[in-house]
This record gives sequence, C-alpha cells and structure tokens, in this order.
Amino acid sequence: MQRVEEQIKRLIDEINYEEVSRLFATLSGGKRLRAKLILKIAKDHEDAPLLAAIVELIHAASLLHDDVIDEAMTRRGKASVNATDGSKTAVMLGDILYSKAFTELVVFDKLVAQTIAASVTALSKGEMMDVKMAESFNSDEHLYLDMLYLKTATLIEAAAKASALLAGKNAASHALYGKNLGLSFQIIDDILDITSDAATLGKPAMNDFVEGKCTLPYIYLYHAMDEQDKHRLVSLHTKELSSEDAEWIKANMKHYQTIEKSFALAQKLSNEAQEAMKDDEELVAILETMIKRSY
Ligand code: FPP
Ligand code: MG
Repeated sequence: MQRVEEQIKRLIDEINYEEVSRLFATLSGGKRLRAKLILKIAKDHEDAPLLAAIVELIHAASLLHDDVIDEAMTRRGKASVNATDGSKTAVMLGDILYSKAFTELVVFDKLVAQTIAASVTALSKGEMMDVKMAESFNSDEHLYLDMLYLKTATLIEAAAKASALLAGKNAASHALYGKNLGLSFQIIDDILDITSDAATLGKPAMNDFVEGKCTLPYIYLYHAMDEQDKHRLVSLHTKELSSEDAEWIKANMKHYQTIEKSFALAQKLSNEAQEAMKDDEELVAILETMIKRSY
C-alpha cells in the first residue's frame, strides 16, 4: 500500500498547486478498499500501484461532489471540504482530482482504460438516479438495486476487472466478484444505518430514510405492511423522525424480519462472489470480513 500512497502523492504534487495539496491533505484516505483490491489482484504488475492511485483519486473526487450534492457536513468523521472551504472549492477540487486521474489513465491498455472510464459514467448516472429517487418514496426493489449497482458497485467491479486484465487473469469472474462485493457492502451499510447507534455511525441513526433514501429494509417493510401502516410509513419519508416513529419503524422491521431479509440478499451476493473466487483465499477473506461487519 505504501507504493499506492507514493503514487497518489506524486500525482497530487504534479498538479503543482499548493491549494490543492493543502486541501487534499485534509481528506481522510478511508479504507482504500479499491486500491487494496487492485494490489491483491495484480500484485506482480508494476503498474498496479498507479492504477490503484487513479481509482482512489476518482473515488475521492466522487465523494467530494457527493458531499456537495448531499449537503453533508462530515465525511469519514471529519468536516467535509464543502463545510470548511465551501461547495465551489469542493467541486473544483473534485474536478482536478478526477481529470488528473483520467490524464494518467490514458497510459494504460485501451481495455483497462475503457473499463475504468465507463464505470465513472455509470457511477455518475447512479448518483443522479439516487437523488431523483429520494424525491418520493421508492418501493421498487429492482430500481433500488440498479441504482446501488451503478452508484457504488461499478467502480469496485471496474477496479477488479481492470486489475485482472492487467494481471492476465479471468476478467469476467473478477468483475463478478467486484460487483457482488460492492453490492453486498452497500446493503450491509444500509442495514447498519438502522441497527447501529449514532456514536458508532458518526451520524444520526436512520439518517438514510430522513434523507429520502428508501433502502432495502424499508422497501421490504412497505410490501409487508397493510394499507394503513403503508400510509404511515410513506408519510414519515424525508421527515425528522421522533423517537416514537423511529421505534415504530424498528419494531415493524423486527416483526416482518426485513433486516434479516436484506442481510440474506447481501449474504447470497457474497456467496456468489465467493464461488467465483473460490481458489483465491485472500479475496474470499475480504468478503468474510465485510459480511461480519453486520449486526
Ligand atoms: C456516495 O453515496 C456516493 C458515491 C459512491 C458516488 C458519487 C458519484 C458522483 C458524485 C459522480 C461524480 C463522479 C466524479 C468522479 C466526479 P452516499 O451519499 O449514499 O454515501 P455516503 O454516506 O458515503 O455519502
Ligand atoms: Mg452522500
């Protein structure tokens, strides 16, 4: 991973603007999941650290823009750039990181570059769908999963596929692994938003629903409820939840086992990913750690 951090530093230095270096230094790097995946899959390839750095810059850019769009004041437990330096700066920093990443991407094989580039179009489309879908209560599970795939799984899928291409490994099975890892990761994140407390989350619990996001446990709940309860649930969408309303939602989720049902889907996707990668212990271990984050 040190080689990835060195590449990231080199790319930022090459932008040659003190303000960018200063702002970038304030960002928390996060788990670097995508970079770790690339290094594991293409560990012997000399360009793997650069590819990993490119993908991390794209991811960082997408989060900068996402925090502007979501008007989020914190990111990874720190104040967001839009909170400290304003939305204009956050957008511009995102633009610089994103275009620097693409400038570097052109040195790669056409198929590798295309894989990453296409995923960024998909992720941007997914973000737009997410915002649109939050405007009203969405009860369509397939639409939700399509959006989730585009917004969060495509870049992980592309990272896995592109590094497999680089390493001469099976691109399709690695792509499937990345896609399902991304999807189950996000489904578990959605579950944790409901089951964890504010201190663990670093933001209020059940914040997704307040922000308009009808995640799987809410979608399943809607379909399980009678008309009267459906009406009450929909009326709470995007509202600040009183503790009574929050408890009502949670009690019904327990009654109809909608958290368990959501977890079962994450588990199924994770099992499929495991099946695709059964000979690779390290990649299987990543899946297991991720699934265990739940509850
Ligand atoms: C987080 O979602 C958002 C994303 C993973 C993708 C955002 C993508 C864009 C803004 C497209 C623009 C892309 C570039 C490269 C400039 P979330 O709000 O559900 O999660 P959060 O809780 O982490 O904010
Ligand atoms: Mg967000």
